[in-house]
Amino acid sequence: MKASGEKFAMLTAYDASFAALLDEAGVEVLLIGDSLGMVIQGHQTTLPVTMDDMVYHSRCVARACRYALVLADLPFMSVATIDQALHNAGRLMQEGGAQMVKLEGGAVQAETVRHLVRHGIPVCAHLGLQPQLVHKLGGYRMQGRAASAAEAMFQEAQGLEQAGADLLLLECVPAALAKRITDAVRIPVVGIGAGPDTDAQVLVLHDALGITAGKPPRFSKNFMHGSAGIGDAVQRFVAAVKDGSFPGPEHTF
Ligand code: KIV
Repeated sequence: MKASGEKFAMLTAYDASFAALLDEAGVEVLLIGDSLGMVIQGHQTTLPVTMDDMVYHSRCVARACRYALVLADLPFMSVATIDQALHNAGRLMQEGGAQMVKLEGGAVQAETVRHLVRHGIPVCAHLGLQPQLVHKLGGYRMQGRAASAAEAMFQEAQGLEQAGADLLLLECVPAALAKRITDAVRIPVVGIGAGPDTDAQVLVLHDALGITAGKPPRFSKNFMHGSAGIGDAVQRFVAAVKDGSFPGPEHTF
């Protein structure tokens, strides 16, 4: 799809009912995100999410999914060593039914990515705002704004591709930097709060359906507005990603 210039759509999913609905609506990748710690479990951050939580929700989604790629997050502290990462990624695939795993981190994770890929595990790397680092970052803030930080992220993206990553996710980065990275790497780049030029877009399902508690992030859009129902809203999200109308300038940094 990257080669042919067709954009693809990703949404988070945490249970079988929504997974079946998103799958039927044409969402190409279902992400069992560790955002489930916030939107399902009610925590303030993703840090309390455990491997058992991820395996449970991945299994629920995978069971209901017929067409979409099932991508599952490796939660906080599950990749602290490369052996731990291999064991936990294996659990997500064998017990959770995931077809790809996602891990947060740049250069620090390159060796882990290499290790997983060597063992036949497809990997999505996650750069930019890494919610598992929220206490280190001091909040959920845009990343890569300063020229030096942008250059470091650009180098890290290339390093992760060289390490064998199959997919790259960029969260909350300036649109110009996301475009530069997307143009430079061969693997598909998925954006969230990263402007219109990435190869794909992802949203947290609850943001896309306007049911997130509190103020939604600026880069998200409530697709329920003007929709006949949830299935219609999801189809409109997919169509807007594909025709490039989402994200618009109001969702972009
Ligand atoms: O956990 C998650 O839902 C994510 C998205 C924000 C991309 O990683």
